[in-house]
Amino acid sequence: MTENGLETYGDLATGVREILISTNEIQQRVYEIGQAISQDYTGLNPLLVGVLKGVLFFMADLLRAVRIPTEMDFIAVSSYSPESRDQGLVRMVKDLEIPISGRHVLFVEDVIDTGLTLNYILRNLRVRQPASLEVCVLFNKPEHRLVNIPLKYKGFDLPDRFVVGYGLDYREKYRNLPFVGLLKPNVFQSGPNNSV
Ligand code: PRP
Repeated sequence: MTENGLETYGDLATGVREILISTNEIQQRVYEIGQAISQDYTGLNPLLVGVLKGVLFFMADLLRAVRIPTEMDFIAVSSYSPESRDQGLVRMVKDLEIPISGRHVLFVEDVIDTGLTLNYILRNLRVRQPASLEVCVLFNKPEHRLVNIPLKYKGFDLPDRFVVGYGLDYREKYRNLPFVGLLKPNVFQSGPNNSV
């Protein structure tokens, strides 16, 4: 049995075919990003903003790797429908609680795929005139990108596959796996694509 072997996770991992990015790899990369943020934002009191829900795990680990004073806030968005989402139509269902005018804002995302969600959110936030607005993404899925969004910090590139874990879900399951795994084909063949 390996340290990160699927056996360790019992029923939680029965739908997972193999581990794609291990817990240690994720933790190491998150630590490195945290160090970079600490250097780049020294003295700037950055506000880290995330969009619920998948970013929860990354945000919690990232903040603990950052060694400068920071604040955090969250928004929640909802696509009107799968079709409208393809056109980038997104609705904000929970707004920020902290004003961002004049603040150094770092937008933190677990995953970027088409880029449409992030594009909508960034446009919305820019109107509020932050001092700076940058993006930190842990998992980048480049194959289906429709909007070019500069990523100041990036963790890993992911293949165009069904992946779950560390915040990524399939029908709301598997988020709490500490690694990223490939889903077995029989799990998703009867249902729709995972949410990204
Ligand atoms: C993920 C992610 C982004 C979006 C990215 O959220 O947090 O909001 O998908 O996809 P895009 O680049 O194609 O727009 P998701 O809809 O999976 O919600 P969740 O965080 O609640 O799982």
